[in-house]
Amino acid sequence: MTFVPIDKLKAGMVLDRDIYLFNSITSKIIMLRCGQILTQAYIEKLHEFDILGAYIHTNQEKEKTISATQTHFRQPVKRELRQEALTSIHQVYNMFNQVAQKINVSSINQTMNISKKLVNSLRCNIEAKISIANLKMYDDYTYNHSLGVSILSIAIGLELGLKTQDLYDLGLCALLHDIGKMAVPISIIAKPAKLTLEEFSIVKQHPVKGAEFFLKHNLANNAICGGVLTHHEKYDGTGYPNGLSGDDIPLFGRIISVADVYDALTSIRPYRKPSTPAEAIEYIMGSSGISFDIAIVRAFLNKVAPYPIGSCVRLSNGELAIIVKQNDYNPSRPVIRLFNQPDVLLDLCMQRDVQNIVIENICDVKTVENH
Ligand SMILES: [Fe+2]
Repeated sequence: MTFVPIDKLKAGMVLDRDIYLFNSITSKIIMLRCGQILTQAYIEKLHEFDILGAYIHTNQEKEKTISATQTHFRQPVKRELRQEALTSIHQVYNMFNQVAQKINVSSINQTMNISKKLVNSLRCNIEAKISIANLKMYDDYTYNHSLGVSILSIAIGLELGLKTQDLYDLGLCALLHDIGKMAVPISIIAKPAKLTLEEFSIVKQHPVKGAEFFLKHNLANNAICGGVLTHHEKYDGTGYPNGLSGDDIPLFGRIISVADVYDALTSIRPYRKPSTPAEAIEYIMGSSGISFDIAIVRAFLNKVAPYPIGSCVRLSNGELAIIVKQNDYNPSRPVIRLFNQPDVLLDLCMQRDVQNIVIENICDVKTVENH
């Protein structure tokens, strides 16, 4: 089984997992079932609903070849939990514009329970790294993005050794960090072009609106409100809304800002193509000490796997390779095994003679089978 991005899906491929169309706060709807053979019409439908890719069945022979060279990537957060989380985030976001009497504290408690489950799930898989491809299986950017940011934030928090209750609070804070966007007109949020200065100044108010919502209804503690308020502050003081710098930015804000930027860069947006995980990591590393706290970036790099072990990648020299081992110093340059020369292992980080080779992308199944 391999995750194949939407633009690489081809008619004739066979689904290895159900694809969900998530369009209801109370139910999940299966769009296509495991075992379904993809047709061009189905693929167009997936495009229409902004589904980001699908798990595709690979033939046994290729599976064996790949299995012999790898340990399969373990998924730290199960699909059911991710769907439960999306439902919960959706419910709380919908409360934003309700009158005070209709604010339902139990929805916040339910979201806190999701945060606890996410923390426990990631803690049980402490060695597992976060795979970006696996985070992006569902449609609906805002909720999806919030969940992605939460998973990454908790992973960073675990790496930093935060206490359990702090991890729960951090997870909840990240799940709801963008709730203030409900105060921004949808025409601005979904605008498929660059925002005007006036529009951007409206968007820049969303951290304040979010923190005000929690404070006004007494729904969250200071750490959570502080994280919501400061998730767009930058370490050098050039962020918004208050231009805080360094350790004046609360820890939750510093953690969520890294997770937020990384998830946003690697997501499909109406106005641009997503960055590759490696490009996003380069950006985060390049902004370390400027936009982001160096200690947080270091923890983040230890927890992210842009190329999960076992994935097949195309190199800049045209060759295909399998990811064999992560490199803690530079997750963009792991240890690989050449597809056509299984005896050759290359350490893209440590070996000088391969410094000019870069990973271009993760390959789809057909590319591997035709190679
Ligand atoms: Fe935000």
